[in-house]
Amino acid sequence: MDVQSVLHMNSGVGDMSYAKNSTVQKMITNLTKTARQEAAVDSFRAAICPTTMTIADLGCSVGPNALLMASEIIDAIAQASHQLNRGPSEIQVFLNDLSGNDFNTLFSLLPEFHKLRERKLQESEQEQVHCFISGVPGSFYGRLFVSKSLHFAYSSSSLHWLSQVPQMRLQDGSEVPLNNKGKIYISHISPPSVFEAYKKQFKRDFSLFLKCRREEVVEGGHMVLTFVARRSSNPSTPLLGSYLWELLAKTLMDMASLGLIEEEKVDSFNLPWYEPSMEEVKNEITIQGLFSIKKIELFEVNLDDNSQEAPRNDHNYNPVDKSAQTMAKTVRAALESVLKSHFGEAIIEKLFERYCFLLEEYYSKNKAEVINILIVLERK
Ligand SMILES: C[S@@+](CC[C@H](N)C(=O)[O-])C[C@H]1O[C@@H](n2cnc3c(N)ncnc32)[C@H](O)[C@@H]1O
Repeated sequence: MDVQSVLHMNSGVGDMSYAKNSTVQKMITNLTKTARQEAAVDSFRAAICPTTMTIADLGCSVGPNALLMASEIIDAIAQASHQLNRGPSEIQVFLNDLSGNDFNTLFSLLPEFHKLRERKLQESEQEQVHCFISGVPGSFYGRLFVSKSLHFAYSSSSLHWLSQVPQMRLQDGSEVPLNNKGKIYISHISPPSVFEAYKKQFKRDFSLFLKCRREEVVEGGHMVLTFVARRSSNPSTPLLGSYLWELLAKTLMDMASLGLIEEEKVDSFNLPWYEPSMEEVKNEITIQGLFSIKKIELFEVNLDDNSQEAPRNDHNYNPVDKSAQTMAKTVRAALESVLKSHFGEAIIEKLFERYCFLLEEYYSKNKAEVINILIVLERK
């Protein structure tokens, strides 16, 4: 799978679009808002209050989250500049994603974004800050910006995506597909070589990400990164994070047993995704020595918090079903492009119907949670 050309979150604003199905990612941005705002202000102060601040969202996708995060950061910088009584008068926001991202839909939200900012300015005492937004297509596992041009960079719910599906390296240096029958990610029955390959791919990608950003971020500039992680150092401990992929693999295998897809297709499919432990992330940042760690912590995102309140007059409302439906749609909006490219479009509807059913079963006994990592870094 050529991840760069295949991967994109579901386009547009329809029922199955990412724009309409990114509640979980929105919860993550809410939980990490203060960290982003504080680091943006620290970057502003470190750059000795520049007149133009340049910030970048790496993996912005399509939908309201990207513009909400940008707006919150602009507010924080404008407030700080008001208190200090100096700059910036202009903020340049770069929204980055892979070239298959639906930038058109994202850009169509800009007039409303600018209108809201205009209104906010009139109602508050904020400094007059002109804000310029541009899209930057390309992989964040490569250079995207001019050297030393960014004051602040952030990435939310994106760095768990790898640049490619991990391969197993043989002694002669050649690479072959993973032997991970019936599974689509590291599982308790996967051979150790599967975990090793995933771990190596993450290390390669994450170190490249840090090296590229080191070139682009100015000294004293900050980065705030959040992505899916795991609590345990053992990657295949059942129920820790990867239950989503265990259940998706089970759904695919159930469909194979019914003759709806070929079992070999499932055997040859693995996700370009990795949930590292905090130690792995910390080690890589320390080994590279390009950024200092100001904060690193794991946090839980619990969908049940979002599902408790029943809509009025809905007496059949069940929070467990609601969490399962939200998660199934979230996974579909994120993974549909890679699943379609491997299994074809015809299976998608049935696949997610069954997947939702398995999630309901799982959430009736377990918390509907996802573990994330928050990292605040300062460029040395
Ligand atoms: C789940 S979305 C997160 C979007 C947004 N940050 C949010 O919080 O709602 C992950 C995004 O990361 C993007 N992505 C994955 N790998 C990438 C890469 N190598 N370079 C740039 N973007 C990438 C995907 O295309 C996708 O749009």
